[in-house]
Amino acid sequence: MKVSVIGLGYLGATHAVAMAKSGHQVIGIEPNPEKVAMLQSGRAGFFEPGLDQALAEQIAAGRLTFQIAHDESSRLVDVHFICVGTPQTKGSLAADTSYLHAAISDLAPYLREDALVAGKSTVPVGTAAILTKELGAATGFSEPNLAWNPEFLREGTALEDSLRPDRLVVGVTNKRSEELLRQVFEPMIASGIPFLVTDLATAELVKAAANAFLATKISFINAMAEIAEVSGADASQLAKAIGYDERIGNKFLRNGVGFGGGCLPKDIRALMARAEELGVGESVAYLKEIDKINIRRRDRVIALLESELGSLSEKRILILGAAFKPDSDDIRDSPALEIALLAQKAGAEVIVHDPVSLPGVLIKHPELSVQEDLTKAFESVDAVVLATEWKEYRDLDPQMVSVLTANKLIIDGRNVLDVAKWQQAGFRVLALGRTIQN
Ligand code: UGA
Repeated sequence: MKVSVIGLGYLGATHAVAMAKSGHQVIGIEPNPEKVAMLQSGRAGFFEPGLDQALAEQIAAGRLTFQIAHDESSRLVDVHFICVGTPQTKGSLAADTSYLHAAISDLAPYLREDALVAGKSTVPVGTAAILTKELGAATGFSEPNLAWNPEFLREGTALEDSLRPDRLVVGVTNKRSEELLRQVFEPMIASGIPFLVTDLATAELVKAAANAFLATKISFINAMAEIAEVSGADASQLAKAIGYDERIGNKFLRNGVGFGGGCLPKDIRALMARAEELGVGESVAYLKEIDKINIRRRDRVIALLESELGSLSEKRILILGAAFKPDSDDIRDSPALEIALLAQKAGAEVIVHDPVSLPGVLIKHPELSVQEDLTKAFESVDAVVLATEWKEYRDLDPQMVSVLTANKLIIDGRNVLDVAKWQQAGFRVLALGRTIQN
């Protein structure tokens, strides 16, 4: 089939490659000419394991091309996927859907009446119905084919998640849309991936609900961590024990510095804002607490540092990690970066290390000092905070770095370190959600 992917950020670039790998002829549309040039050279422009290689392969195979705007070739397309961003609006909790409206009006002059527009962006429930009306007005079609097909990919495993998702959800208003989506996802459906057909609103809400549930799970275990910290219990063991109950499950119960990134934080806020608009704000008022628990974990790290070092003024503190999770260079709403900024605000001299995201850190926060060399980063530090669980941090040799530090103190913000090994190297080890005997 002929497919277009509109908006080539994380979601769009990955989806374009996944569609090409599924055998479709794909046109990627992205207004930023620099981004288009980069994609044409086989680079996605962000760190995602395996993506650049797959991108280059699909370009070489002639299945994937990029352009800055629609042209006559868009008239040949059967399914247009809209993958533009829906960031948090400045000064409000709500999602900014302006890129979606722009995508619809740009596409309308080139849309065939029998083609389908399938939105993939995460949107406030009710958005697809508004966009359908806009599309009808712009094209004159009495029943434009517009569907919603939320994406559940995770950064770090994006391509794999796109090619082999847990489920495909499609919200449609007519049979033609469903048939086109069945055709486009045929290889995945044939491999046994569940294909759920819903109305538009349900498909939109499925995505918001999934992310709200995941955020709730993380904040739940972090709330238990707060209780564990003052009662001598161990939140990691607690998570393991409750996770054996299949109704609870052990995934997404890792306690630590909390969730960040471009999705969970903004999506729970957008859901609260939308519920409020719909007059049912109380239904998800609890998400305010989920957000607060998450933010408190960052403060907890600063409190631990202060309880050990007194004032942080002029103390040299190394933050291991800046990305919001390993295998990603995404620093949006990153707990690690927020901890670095909080420590700096408290007077500390902060050094940030991250295997891939330091260029982005320097652009966004030139006030922070960074060190690319992991060993050198330990020189003369008074404390170390492990804030993102990159493999290189878990594999560090504590004996080797212990001789470099001014003071042997490490806070394990992700509960991944081999505590005994660090203690043997002379470190005092603290962690979130448990009390360690040093
Ligand atoms: C999340 C969802 O997991 C995806 O299903 C969804 O498609 C995506 O948002 C999106 O809306 O686009 P992602 O933001 O890539 O994916 O990252 P996650 O793996 O969900 O991790 C989010 C944050 O939670 C990270 O900061 C991670 O460190 C933290 N986390 C995760 C924990 O603190 N504890 C856990 O047990 C799991």
